[in-house]
Amino acid sequence: MNFKSIKTSYPKLVSLWGSGKNYQKPNVRLKNSFEAVQSLVGFEGIVVLDIGCNNGLVSAVASEVFHSVVSLEYKLERAQKAKKTKKFFVLNNMKVVHSTFLEYAKSEGLVHDKVKAVVAFQVLYHMTTEEIDLLREHMPNVQCCILGSRPGKSHSNNKYRMTKVDDIQKFMLPFFNRIDVMFSRSKWPLLVGKKLNQ
Ligand SMILES: C[S@@+](CC[C@H](N)C(=O)[O-])C[C@H]1O[C@@H](n2cnc3c(N)ncnc32)[C@H](O)[C@@H]1O
Repeated sequence: MNFKSIKTSYPKLVSLWGSGKNYQKPNVRLKNSFEAVQSLVGFEGIVVLDIGCNNGLVSAVASEVFHSVVSLEYKLERAQKAKKTKKFFVLNNMKVVHSTFLEYAKSEGLVHDKVKAVVAFQVLYHMTTEEIDLLREHMPNVQCCILGSRPGKSHSNNKYRMTKVDDIQKFMLPFFNRIDVMFSRSKWPLLVGKKLNQ
């Protein structure tokens, strides 16, 4: 895997979007997303959906490896930032969609865009039960995923909570035969799920 262009652009990305209050620092997020994406050797040729992409930092990392990235964000100002990231780094395989996951999934965007991988960093606990159910319905088509957890309250009160590592692991279990918990001692663990041929 070749992360050359984004790696050398680390400082530019961080200076473009600042350090973000009450949130994991961009350089840590970049480092962790590199590590998680790097663990997906063999899945490079597929389309990934980055749910809740914010300024597109993690999408930019994923775009280095996957065939293409659909970056979904429901806040207009943030979707515009992601578009700026895409333009700044000339990421021709990154498409920014300004939409909620609900609208996107109901419009069959998941199917039209041929989404076969899902990245969701610190966003599942914002999503509604209906959205998590729609994601679950699509999971049989998904070959690998990186899902982030964060201890604390679920913002949306969805019935799956999706805050603890256990919540996310339970969600992933029916679909993946390999699940790794990365940065398990961190406040922001990431779970990597893969469908491996046995
Ligand atoms: C805590 S931020 C994480 C951003 C990004 N994944 C990262 O790690 O840098 C969560 C983002 O998801 C977006 N979001 C939350 N719920 C969403 C939904 N249902 N559909 C689309 N975007 C959503 C928010 O606007 C916010 O930008």
